[in-house]
Amino acid sequence: MGRVPIVAGNWKMNKNPEEGFSFVDEVQNLLLEIKHVSIIFAPPFTGLFEMNVHPPFYSAAQNCHWESNGAFTGEVSVSMIKECGAKYVIIGHSERRHIFGELDDWINKKLKAILNVGLSPILCVGETIDQRDKGQTEQILYEQLDEGLRGITNFEDCVIAYEPVWAIGTGVTADNEQVRLAHSAIRDILKNKLKGSDDVHILYGGSVNSANAEDLIQIEGVDGFLIGGASLQLDSFTSIARTVEMVQEKKL
Ligand code: PGA
Repeated sequence: MGRVPIVAGNWKMNKNPEEGFSFVDEVQNLLLEIKHVSIIFAPPFTGLFEMNVHPPFYSAAQNCHWESNGAFTGEVSVSMIKECGAKYVIIGHSERRHIFGELDDWINKKLKAILNVGLSPILCVGETIDQRDKGQTEQILYEQLDEGLRGITNFEDCVIAYEPVWAIGTGVTADNEQVRLAHSAIRDILKNKLKGSDDVHILYGGSVNSANAEDLIQIEGVDGFLIGGASLQLDSFTSIARTVEMVQEKKL
């Protein structure tokens, strides 16, 4: 049947619970016609509890801790996230890696904890501009996936987000060929590492907006988007979702 495209909105540290709940209600009402795309909302933890989503709409946390409970001030466990009704957990976002110093080893522990409770990870990978300029993009993707997925052999209902760090929040997207090559490199790495890797989605993230979505979604190997800024506004988020739905409908 192929992979159902995903449009995921990463709200980062934006929207209080009330704003989030009404945004989610409005998006679901505006997108009643969506049949061929999964839509994911990733609010801050405070907006996750009792978020009223119905398939094909889902919720996601933006982070988690790998232990199930204990003295870890400021952290939230995967079972707590699951009890809020979320299906996905974003891990390894570049802001977590670069602002908060997350290591691949922690990301790997988080990933295992997520799979253990039956949730799905959205594992973010991507190179900095420095690494790209030095020709290290593929090597960085390999290292982040190799270490992030260490000990994992079966990773079916999971998502990878390719997010070049230099394209996040900058208004600059990777060009079509850069995206195609990175997605194909990731697909090859997954094939060598995992059973069932054909089911793994590979999303693109980094300055996706309603003007570039139609072009980006048609790049070979792009199974959807992880969106920051443009996921916060009704107009842009619903327009991107409709674009992905339209392109997918044409393929079916
Ligand atoms: P952006 O963020 O769409 O604002 O570039 C993407 C992300 O951080 O996931």
